[in-house]
Amino acid sequence: MWLRNCWYVIAWDHEIPPADSPTLFTRTVLGEPVLVYRTQIGELIALEDRCCHRHAPLSVGRREGDCVRCGYHGLKFDHRGQCVEAPGIEIIPAKAKVKRYPLVEKNKWVFVWMGDPALADDALLPDNFSCDSPDWQNKPGYLHYDTPYLLICDNLLDFSHLSYVHEKSLGGSTRIAQARPAIEPVPGPNADWPQLGIKVSRHVNDVPPPPFYQRFRRFDTNLDRWFVYEFLLPGTLLMHSGGRPTGSAPDAPGPSVRLHSCQTLTPETATTTHYFFQQSHPTGEGDGTVTQSIYDSLIGAFNEDRDMITAQHRNIQHNPTLPMMPLAMDAALIQFRRLLEARVRAEQQAQTLSPTQPATMA
Ligand code: FES
Ligand SMILES: [Fe+2]
Repeated sequence: MWLRNCWYVIAWDHEIPPADSPTLFTRTVLGEPVLVYRTQIGELIALEDRCCHRHAPLSVGRREGDCVRCGYHGLKFDHRGQCVEAPGIEIIPAKAKVKRYPLVEKNKWVFVWMGDPALADDALLPDNFSCDSPDWQNKPGYLHYDTPYLLICDNLLDFSHLSYVHEKSLGGSTRIAQARPAIEPVPGPNADWPQLGIKVSRHVNDVPPPPFYQRFRRFDTNLDRWFVYEFLLPGTLLMHSGGRPTGSAPDAPGPSVRLHSCQTLTPETATTTHYFFQQSHPTGEGDGTVTQSIYDSLIGAFNEDRDMITAQHRNIQHNPTLPMMPLAMDAALIQFRRLLEARVRAEQQAQTLSPTQPATMA
């Protein structure tokens, strides 16, 4: 169940080679191989990475200026995806072309629109400000999952798992699992999108500092911790989190931890997922090792998640129709799944009424 008319992150900007590089970047999104490259003037282009002739990947061909030549029989495509040269063929058929996808770069995330290009709307891009801000520092990360993307959405929508999966890393207290978060809708940018996601706010007071915090700041007292995040369609988490000495006012001077995290999930196939993430700390807080230390902690913790979700997925595959047992802690993920299902249904109904979705951009 995938939403198509929305933005998915396909890459961090540093992953796309410069225009003078012979390397061509490719990544599969929603089961479609997508080639991404930069033109001489720096514009990012996304084309279907499948030659219209015999379906060879264009990414194993070569760049020729702003064009790409297929490495199998030599068809050459321009930045619109149109075939402009076919060896030995004088008149090139108009339908000799590959799909071009809308692409947008925002704060170091490169977004691709997999649905109807006419509906691509920048207002739907998430506010991933801390990925590229002078006020925040981070080290970007990427993980690959051999599980469906919705299982990872479920994980991010229920932080009660911090107490158990991340007992020795991000969590550190069973009180996190016991705390009930507040859940509210996140409105969308316009009438076409009345709701874009849900907001989850979890406050846990008077708990020991998690092992993760101790790696970059020493605390001798218990902390009041907060996790406040939006989880937006199709699968992006934008979170403020932190901790301060128990009882201290939110703006009181003194030791505290303030973090902002941007994480996003992009289905690769029905059973595999791309995970892009970063956790930022305020610029100037801590010494030069803090950014790397946070990154290392995050990778460690996200591997804990991946191990658990991969094992869960294996079990589900043994008997996919066996029902699960919903509990109170599942409220946010159930709401998100309902929102996604309704949106996918509406998209599919619109597609049925108007089945002539354009295959290419001009
Ligand atoms: S498969 Fe690309 S030119 Fe034949
Ligand atoms: Fe986790």
